[in-house]
Amino acid sequence: MSVVFLNDTYLPMAEAKISPMDRGFLFGDGIYEVVPSYNGEMVGFAPHIDRMNNGLNAVEINLGWSHERWKDVCDILIEKNGAGNLALYLHVSRGADTRRFHAYPEDIEPTVFAFAFEIPPVPVADKTKVVGYKVAASRDLRWERCQIKSTALLGNVMHFQHGYQQGANETLLYNERNELTEASACNAYIVKDGVVITPLLDNQILAGITRHILLDLLRKDGSIPVEERIVTMAEVFDADEVWVTSSSKEVVPVIEIEGKPVGNGEIGDVWLAAQTIYSAGKLNY
Ligand code: PDD
Repeated sequence: MSVVFLNDTYLPMAEAKISPMDRGFLFGDGIYEVVPSYNGEMVGFAPHIDRMNNGLNAVEINLGWSHERWKDVCDILIEKNGAGNLALYLHVSRGADTRRFHAYPEDIEPTVFAFAFEIPPVPVADKTKVVGYKVAASRDLRWERCQIKSTALLGNVMHFQHGYQQGANETLLYNERNELTEASACNAYIVKDGVVITPLLDNQILAGITRHILLDLLRKDGSIPVEERIVTMAEVFDADEVWVTSSSKEVVPVIEIEGKPVGNGEIGDVWLAAQTIYSAGKLNY
């Protein structure tokens, strides 16, 4: 039975209860994070908490927790749930109100919920071990505030479901100008002539922590050029390699988009080099 954290208490998952008047439940009024942890070591803990604080500030939820306070909760959840391959899910909603009224109430306490769940073993830079993704592609129909990691994920869920129903692992998204944004739960990249290219950070995408770590490590390493710029879907279909990244998956090669092979349909050498660099450097963040 997994042990979870709810409003300063550690308790079995089945005993964790929140009010149906919680604005997280009624409006999706909350912010969340997913932090990976392998054998008790978290990847990107500080940038994950910084991003959560940015999200909380953007929606004016005043929690005021320090990094140390979050670290204690994560460490205790890892200890209580057995350090293996875990993701820590951290969730702050605005809290429970007495009525359903859209405006932010002033005098309620945020609800803080966290739990650990098992994720696949640590990804390795090995073409024979990684499973390439087959993905769908869809017009991005989410809102124009995708930089906020809101718990209101129905738009993402619907896009993911679209791919899932046709047997795809993910759904790549593009805007009304046919420009790649991201995927339903990952950031997206193309590789062309040895250059890694990914959409710029703006309101159309989440500033992924894996993206941040990967781009920083690639730039420091210097062997693979990186560009952040607009990427058209024509470029995506013409790419040598396509990847998606997220915290629990690291760098995943995409081998097929809408039934068409990416490049020669094989897992690419630039992916291998990038995941090697990521694996070697990720614990410094
Ligand atoms: N998803 N874009 C979207 C829309 C995401 O939901 C995520 C993460 C990412 C990648 O961000 P990061 O590298 O910080 O994990 C990009 C999480 C893991 C989820 O919702 O489960």
